[in-house]
Amino acid sequence: MKKLKIGLFGFGVVGQGVYQALQRTSSLNVSIHRICVRSNKPRKAPAELFTTDREILLTDPGIDVIVEVIDDAEAAWQIARTALLNGKHVVSASKKMIVEHLGELLDLQTATGKSILYESAACASIPVIRNLEEYYDHSLLKGLRGIVNGSTNFILGKMKEEELDIRQATLEAQQLGFAESDPSLDLEGIDAVNKCCLLLAHAYGIVTHPSDILYTGIQAITPGDIAIALSKNQDIKLVAQAQKLSTGQITVFVLPQFVAKQDVLYGVRNEYNGVVITTHFADEQFFYGKGAGSLPTASAIVSDLSALCYGYKYEYKKLQRSDRNSLTNEVYLRVYLSYPDAGKVRRQEFEWLEEWHQEEGRGYLTGVIALQKLIDNRWWQRDGHSLILQPDGIIEEVVTRNLRRKSLELAGLVI
Ligand SMILES: NC(=O)c1ccc[n+]([C@@H]2O[C@H](COP(=O)([O-])OP(=O)(O)OC[C@H]3O[C@@H](n4cnc5c(N)ncnc54)[C@H](OP(=O)(O)O)[C@@H]3O)[C@@H](O)[C@H]2O)c1
Repeated sequence: MKKLKIGLFGFGVVGQGVYQALQRTSSLNVSIHRICVRSNKPRKAPAELFTTDREILLTDPGIDVIVEVIDDAEAAWQIARTALLNGKHVVSASKKMIVEHLGELLDLQTATGKSILYESAACASIPVIRNLEEYYDHSLLKGLRGIVNGSTNFILGKMKEEELDIRQATLEAQQLGFAESDPSLDLEGIDAVNKCCLLLAHAYGIVTHPSDILYTGIQAITPGDIAIALSKNQDIKLVAQAQKLSTGQITVFVLPQFVAKQDVLYGVRNEYNGVVITTHFADEQFFYGKGAGSLPTASAIVSDLSALCYGYKYEYKKLQRSDRNSLTNEVYLRVYLSYPDAGKVRRQEFEWLEEWHQEEGRGYLTGVIALQKLIDNRWWQRDGHSLILQPDGIIEEVVTRNLRRKSLELAGLVI
């Protein structure tokens, strides 16, 4: 087992967790050599460890591994890139940086022979990336559904159980260190879609960009939506989902979903994450654990460091296969949409409508709509609309004409 000397970038929530966790993990043959931060201020570690000069860490030949846990994705990329080029392994928690640069990181790893590991970047403490990478052959993997963002899960829980509004609940998540420094990354689903892209690369060997995926967050969820979920014995969760269709292609999206009580994701509460993996022979398997926070995130980083001691690297085997999977948006989704103004709902975009409730102030409908239409035209993300996927909401094929005509007539829309 090799002894590793670490250069740590960042001493915030995660950086301090890494420092504490390593102090308590004497069995691991690693030591923190220097710590680079953005600013000079008192720290809960010996002052001589700290610098604000990144070059000191990046050019130190004694440092084997750069652990990058800063909150600036662009600077993180410069650090990771330089570290690999300078012959150092990298461990990173920055999903945004990794997803933005995954193609380049793959090339850099091949060119330098060094690895970047990032278990903590998706679902923090849950070892889902390494399991997808090593255990699940992609032809056997039917799909995965995950609550991958701890802070939105925490916020939705607070809105439901304590009837807090979204602002109060977000503030509480930030105070507890669960939310990103910029909470819109959590609320608008950006953090979740970044994690979804990471899972997709290791589950199916598909490298894609968030801009190619349908996603939204919980920013538009109203107390009325939560009340409707409660009345149906359901909960609302922000879920990242990838599913293999009967054509063999993969459809993927990140959307709020109504989750029924019997769904294993229903029990994922607070800042916890959970990922359900469905396979051909083993049915469902469930990964569960803390998806944010100082020590839980550090725990995955310590595991990556331990793996590096044994020479582990991601081999990205599924990316190299000739029967590689591809993405498709050619499916339909059964959705719920609540709205403040019925006049702004584009009913004609739906294949058919199933329910239509108009109450004073706010109404809602349920119906089936093509996923591609949600991507092409974002009317449903404006004007206070709130779109939520129904349970079992993926429909592969629809026999449209008659149903569409009938349901639109029922909704009073002349076509
Ligand atoms: N928090 C979580 O639960 C969690 C979970 C999984 C993944 N992550 C990821 O982990 C990373 C860090 O998150 P965090 O919550 O620990 O953030 P944080 O508490 O805001 O800490 C950020 C740290 O980065 C330092 N920093 C920022 N820019 C820098 C630069 N250019 N050079 C050197 N240091 C720099 C800051 O220095 P100063 O102290 O001087 O300001 C601070 O110590 C992010 O990528 C985040 O997405 C976080």
